[in-house]
Amino acid sequence: MSKTKMWESKSMIMLFMLTYICYLLTSSVSANVWYDNKAITINKQRRILLSGSIHYPRSTPEMWPDLIQKAKEGGLDVIQTYVFWNGHEPSLGKFNFEGRYDLVKFVKLIQQAGLYVHLRIGPFVCAEWNFGGFPVWLKYVPGIEFRTNNGPFKEKMQAFTAKIVDMMKAEKLFHWQGGPIILSQIENEYGPVEWEIGAPGKAYTNWAAQMAQSLNAGVPWVMCKQDDAPGDVINTCNGFYCENFVPNSKSKPKMWTENWSGWYTEFGGAVPYRPAEDIAFSVARFIQNGGSFVNYYMYHGGTNFGNTAGRFVTTSYDYDAPIDEYGLPREPKYTHLKNLHRAIKMCESALVSADPKMTKLGKNQEAHVFSSNSGSCAAFLANYDTQSSAKVTFRGSQYELPPWSISILSDCKKEVYNTARVSAPRYHSKMTTVSGFSWQSHIDETPSADGDSTFSATGLYEQTNVTRDNSDYLWYMTNVNVKSAEEPILTVMSAGHVLHVFVNGHYQGTAYGSLEKPQLTFSQKVQLRPGLNKISLLSAAVGLANVGKHFERYKQGVLGPVTLNGLKEGTWDLTRSKWSYKVGMKGESLGLHTFSGTSSVEWDQSAVAQKQPLAWYKTTFSTPAGNDPLAIDMSSMGKGQMWINGESIGRHWPANKAKGKCGQCNYAGIYSETKCLGECGHPSQRWYHVPRSWLRPNGNLLVVFEEMGGNPRGISLVKRTAM
Ligand code: GAL
Repeated sequence: MSKTKMWESKSMIMLFMLTYICYLLTSSVSANVWYDNKAITINKQRRILLSGSIHYPRSTPEMWPDLIQKAKEGGLDVIQTYVFWNGHEPSLGKFNFEGRYDLVKFVKLIQQAGLYVHLRIGPFVCAEWNFGGFPVWLKYVPGIEFRTNNGPFKEKMQAFTAKIVDMMKAEKLFHWQGGPIILSQIENEYGPVEWEIGAPGKAYTNWAAQMAQSLNAGVPWVMCKQDDAPGDVINTCNGFYCENFVPNSKSKPKMWTENWSGWYTEFGGAVPYRPAEDIAFSVARFIQNGGSFVNYYMYHGGTNFGNTAGRFVTTSYDYDAPIDEYGLPREPKYTHLKNLHRAIKMCESALVSADPKMTKLGKNQEAHVFSSNSGSCAAFLANYDTQSSAKVTFRGSQYELPPWSISILSDCKKEVYNTARVSAPRYHSKMTTVSGFSWQSHIDETPSADGDSTFSATGLYEQTNVTRDNSDYLWYMTNVNVKSAEEPILTVMSAGHVLHVFVNGHYQGTAYGSLEKPQLTFSQKVQLRPGLNKISLLSAAVGLANVGKHFERYKQGVLGPVTLNGLKEGTWDLTRSKWSYKVGMKGESLGLHTFSGTSSVEWDQSAVAQKQPLAWYKTTFSTPAGNDPLAIDMSSMGKGQMWINGESIGRHWPANKAKGKCGQCNYAGIYSETKCLGECGHPSQRWYHVPRSWLRPNGNLLVVFEEMGGNPRGISLVKRTAM
């Protein structure tokens, strides 16, 4: 090789190496998501990040692009979601990442929209989700104890967490790989549990943090409501207000992972809401106090399809979120917050480069000023008085502040936003009837002890241990022999959640618990005939608990005592009698809700059953034209479940009307204790969302299973429109 040639090839190699080093340098810089004391940094830039929770299985993949787009137009930077273990691993080692559980697709859609992702892996998620996100099989792993320093639990938790992190890496979804994920989360609000259980809790916290970090996700991990989040893990605040939150290290930013945009609805409770003014105020107050990350929980709440709802939680998870259950913007909340986000973004450069200086403007008024060396300036003028507005003077100008409000001055002069002045449209969405249905009915059987049962045993068994949550329903059946006709009082104590009582095949009545007190007692006179009498108790679970210390140990079902009182022979205690058990309704095992199963029984078309317990109803209908979201009005029905084209819409229970605290709203400052609640006396949930993507143009099969009796003629198809 000639000298010049050698020189040429040497310089080529040099050039190549230099380019490579440059590439490495720039890519590691652009890959860099970390944080300092003020904010999350992306590519070394501090960012004020506005985020919103959208849980992918609470809507359909067909709805995702629009929800994400609306989140973007609403001024969000980040979409936050939990990862739902029991949806992804319904049985041990068998995974599901399809349909509503297509997490990768969801994350990629967010990426395409140009937004970031905060992935809260948990895998405990709480979230009013069945069993807090844990698969039911996990409870039956030998030696397991949930959420503590327990070997079998930690092993399974690590395996799932690692699986998700690896999957995101394989799909190049972390920010350093060019993907949208900038943050992750391990556990969820574990602090209060740790506080309760002490040393093993502490050990578990440390393990969880280390385990998470060992997975090399390359993005910061947060632990919410975890004052002792170790090392680099960021502790964050959850609540209606978080302005006074202080992270546990001077090098960590002030972050708010759950600003509750409303609240969930429980069966038997009024529908909660949160005024747009109050949530805007809470965000502005957090930012003026140095906060740099706010997530709305929920931004779109959606629907608890199938049996995904947690204990006593309604099928609707609307949450009074800025985007309603059906995917429509909720006004004025959506636009009022959008305007707030715009105002905050106008202040971003001042917010990230200066610490706020507070000055008093009056007894209940303050100014928080961010003034940077480079000349940017932003001011927040706050009036904490809940009753009166205030006139304040700031830098020589006068400002009028409504009660309980904050004005944002993007250049320390011009007011660009006030949290209490709502210029957004105040329209309400409404439901309009599209059509009724013409029904056919079929009555399910009331099984008895000597008939077809799953097994028999002495005494009463805990429900979930028998059903493994494969059905909401468990039959408890026994026989009693009396010499002559008698009218004793049958008393059944159950750990929950709903009990329907049948004697000799006749419906006697229903008793039910509530979220606050799931236990119930049924006590009623029953008629016994001479000889053999069949007692059949149908116990129905309304979701498994999703929170509470060792909620995996909570019990469901008829645990007794069960007694017959006032017999000629006195009282009989049936608690230790021989009981037969049957899991699920016969109609469930026949698949009456599916196209293929529906023909396995006779349906009555002429005399459609009304006020009839254990009734199945079916109908077919055509899809109405247009794109308006659809729902089923179930106000004439009792309690049960419903399906469209084989897909489970969820549990209906309009017979459970809102009672207790209703119709009150006292949010200013004490909101966290007194959530705003809608009116009493109405069903906690009347309308049930039917995603359009589940429908075909014609011949849609709607099936309703009614446990206690209702009038199917009152059921109608409705559409939701903004007015
Ligand atoms: C939080 C929890 C969330 C959700 C929320 C109430 O404490 O972290 O998962 O349950 O409460 O909606």
